Amino acid sequence: MADGPSEFRWMPEQASSFARETDALYLFLIGVSSFFTIAIAAAIVYFAIKYRRGSAADRSHPPTHLFYLELTWILVPFALTLVMFVWGAKAYFEQAWPPKGGIEISCVARQWMWKFQHPEGNAEIDDLHVPLGENVRMTLISEDVIHSFYVPEFRVKHDVLPGRYVTVWFRPTKAGQYHLFCAEYCGAKHSAMGGVVHVLEPSQYQLWLSGGGETNVSPQVAGQQLFEQLRCGTCHEGGGSGVNRGPPLENLFGSTVRLQNGTTVVADESYLRESIMRPAAKIVAGYQPIMPSFEGQIGEEGLLQLIAHLKSRAAPDRNAPPTGPSQPASPPLEKGQQP
Ligand code: CUA
Repeated sequence: MADGPSEFRWMPEQASSFARETDALYLFLIGVSSFFTIAIAAAIVYFAIKYRRGSAADRSHPPTHLFYLELTWILVPFALTLVMFVWGAKAYFEQAWPPKGGIEISCVARQWMWKFQHPEGNAEIDDLHVPLGENVRMTLISEDVIHSFYVPEFRVKHDVLPGRYVTVWFRPTKAGQYHLFCAEYCGAKHSAMGGVVHVLEPSQYQLWLSGGGETNVSPQVAGQQLFEQLRCGTCHEGGGSGVNRGPPLENLFGSTVRLQNGTTVVADESYLRESIMRPAAKIVAGYQPIMPSFEGQIGEEGLLQLIAHLKSRAAPDRNAPPTGPSQPASPPLEKGQQP
């Protein structure tokens, strides 16, 4: 998009660290498919002509068995598909498991807009500013129907679901402006649900952070205010009264929690969200299921703020738990989605 819409290109610009490998894998798939399509079509035409009715071709000793030919057409496709599988799996895991650290941005999608929240407090709608060369880790959720976060130049596309956090990460490698699409039909204005990702030089990004966007208090601070407003501390912080009715929240994020039924769970974003919305779903060992549900009382942005507050109360090295195994990951490229 940086070069203007009129310029024709086979592929979108390569503007993230995923782009090269995704394109190489894609070209490999196209190359292999094309080779066999052409080879098979050519063989069909050749034999159709050679053995057409009435031709003088030799039909006297048709071969019934060619061992090495059979071995070839078993082993060659097997090897090729294994290459596709291993290469594809490697690329998939790279995208599905965000590295630790980097910039964390949360996003709430709704009909029909993208709302982004930076940890520094900057919030923006349908525009996303990110620094060049840094890992950006996004936590996304929808407030209504299924949307899909799609930036072709980054080769990043992921469904954004109601009721569940999904994680997307990327590292921009080229400054510029890139079109953000919603790639899942989500209602009348689906086609208008888009925006622009602005990749800025790090210094410009800092400048933007200090002046750009709709600057609110940071989600951490907003979360703490919400925490007090909802009186979460009454049960979760004993104060002088001794025993807590709810489990302590200090150092909770990223830790492993033992549940009443004997299993354990990692306290990641999804667990915290579930415990606020449906507290009875996972009861911490040693506690009673007495917490009321906050469903309908806190919106998705409020939940993200509460989680940001809880994160701030945990050791910083826990702040980016590996999201792979605990989160059911969806396939990186889904059904024939079109923006
Ligand atoms: Cu949101 Cu389509």
